[in-house]
Amino acid sequence: MKSATWRNRHFALACLCMIMVRLSYCKLTNSSIPAIAVYFGTKGRYEEVNPHLIDDILFVNKSAVSPPAADCRSVHLVALIRHGTRFPTTKNIKKIHRLYDVVMTEASATDQCLSDIKNKWPLWYTEDMDGKLVEKGKDDLRHLAVRLSKSFPSLISEETLRGERMEFITSSKHRCVDSIQAFQEGLLKHWGVGDVGFRHYVNDSLMRFFDQCKRFVESIENNKTALKEVKLFKASLEMDEVCRRMASRLQIPPNHITPDLVEAAFFLCSYEFAIKSRNSPWCNLLDESDAQAWILNSYCLTIVLEYKNDLKQYWKRGYGHEINRKSSCVLFHDIFKRLDQASYDYRFGEVTKAVTIQVGHGETLLPLLSLMGFFRDETPLTATNFPMQHSRKFRSSQIVPYSANLLFVLYECTDGLRLQFFLNEKPMTFPNISDPAPLYATVRNHYSDLLGGCDFEKECELPKDKVKNTEL
Ligand SMILES: *[C@@H]1O[C@H](CO)[C@@H](O)[C@H](O)[C@H]1NC(C)=O
Ligand SMILES: *[C@@H]1O[C@H](CO)[C@@H](O)[C@H](O)[C@H]1NC(C)=O
Ligand SMILES: *[C@@H]1O[C@H](CO)[C@@H](O)[C@H](O)[C@H]1NC(C)=O
Ligand SMILES: *[C@@H]1O[C@H](CO)[C@@H](O)[C@H](O)[C@H]1NC(C)=O
Ligand SMILES: *[C@@H]1O[C@H](CO)[C@@H](O)[C@H](O)[C@H]1NC(C)=O
Repeated sequence: MKSATWRNRHFALACLCMIMVRLSYCKLTNSSIPAIAVYFGTKGRYEEVNPHLIDDILFVNKSAVSPPAADCRSVHLVALIRHGTRFPTTKNIKKIHRLYDVVMTEASATDQCLSDIKNKWPLWYTEDMDGKLVEKGKDDLRHLAVRLSKSFPSLISEETLRGERMEFITSSKHRCVDSIQAFQEGLLKHWGVGDVGFRHYVNDSLMRFFDQCKRFVESIENNKTALKEVKLFKASLEMDEVCRRMASRLQIPPNHITPDLVEAAFFLCSYEFAIKSRNSPWCNLLDESDAQAWILNSYCLTIVLEYKNDLKQYWKRGYGHEINRKSSCVLFHDIFKRLDQASYDYRFGEVTKAVTIQVGHGETLLPLLSLMGFFRDETPLTATNFPMQHSRKFRSSQIVPYSANLLFVLYECTDGLRLQFFLNEKPMTFPNISDPAPLYATVRNHYSDLLGGCDFEKECELPKDKVKNTEL
């Protein structure tokens, strides 16, 4: 049994990787976009999920954002937006420095990739950059603001702003505050107005609920076993092979290349690209597209690292543990409170609040999406089932790149209020509801269990025995 399982995994690995051992890895390319850019997970560029934006960053797909029927008119919008492109955090900057040191002192390969890294790539990351929003990140939000205003011109308009029918809420983190300000700048510039001011409210109970959910902090954040699948995968055959190949590519003794260092190279490629729009020599080091194309149409080293990142999100922010999702109950209720209010106003007169713009984190969006049942795979992602998860739904590269956004748009139609959901400006159906823009009542009914329960205080309370332990 054991050996059969091993053989299966070994076979999958052979398919994925071993065939390539003797091929040359240094792939020089003129493309300004790394071939592996679609695998960067939460460090990915928004343009990769909407490639038409590469040619025209302000392009709006009119047919995607038009009302569900000719007799419908949008009356309310709630937008949850992740901050834009940012610098690495201090922890990752330290890993990048370690990788750079190892490569500079130990790598003895003589190919063009390595020579480009050694001679033409100055290490420019410093620890004080710690997760701050970069200039590209401001552009992400400025441009998103313009596109959303073009998409929903009657809602995101100068008139609703002047009428104080637009509200801005953000997480307290500098990258989020800077993002919401960039969003506001984008709107003012688009409308050509300079005489209105914007306010925003910081609300961490809403946008950083994960910090305030004691049960989450205790049983996941501060609990190493909660992410044991990630740890197991880091020690897996797949990861071993990835390290071995990276070592052989650079001509470094294999035991000097750890999963952390391989990951640092992957992050470096993604940061160089997201921040500076550069296809850096670090990317060439990882790109196996030529070798892979005929095997699996995907990239071996890269897809292993992508899976590792998804595993982490799955167990820390997604379906892995119930409390990950439940910690977002407060945000879930807040959104439906706004939609309920709009639907109440609509029945008894005019909708007062038109728009709420809320800026938070990938960690804000993923638990909420999971709570609502989006991107749920039948089989949990684990350290041992990587080979069967190639077409998983839970793919953070597609879901939460920088400036990822969820929109809830309420329409008045002849037969009542309808709700449409958009992820990254693309319409999505609610899980198990086939109508792309169902009646609002249908959506409420679908989520009736959550609407009637999902109490943040109760879900996030520490289990009684744990409280007792700490009191003793
Ligand atoms: C890259 O661009 C240069 C100059 O434009 C050209 O000479 C070279 O053939 C190109 N290489 C590839 C691989 O396309
Ligand atoms: C525009 O939206 C429509 C409807 O959602 C979709 O079928 C089409 O592929 C989109 N076009 C682009 C360029 O994304
Ligand atoms: C933050 O939002 C929550 C949920 O809507 C609300 O109860 C709370 O009063 C808000 N806090 C602040 C400081 O505005
Ligand atoms: C830590 O996580 C493990 C695995 O999910 C769980 O069994 C254990 O109860 C958790 N520990 C605490 C203190 O919550
Ligand atoms: C959707 O339907 C399936 C099968 O009927 C069920 O297992 C699942 O829980 C449903 N999902 C949601 C979000 O209601």
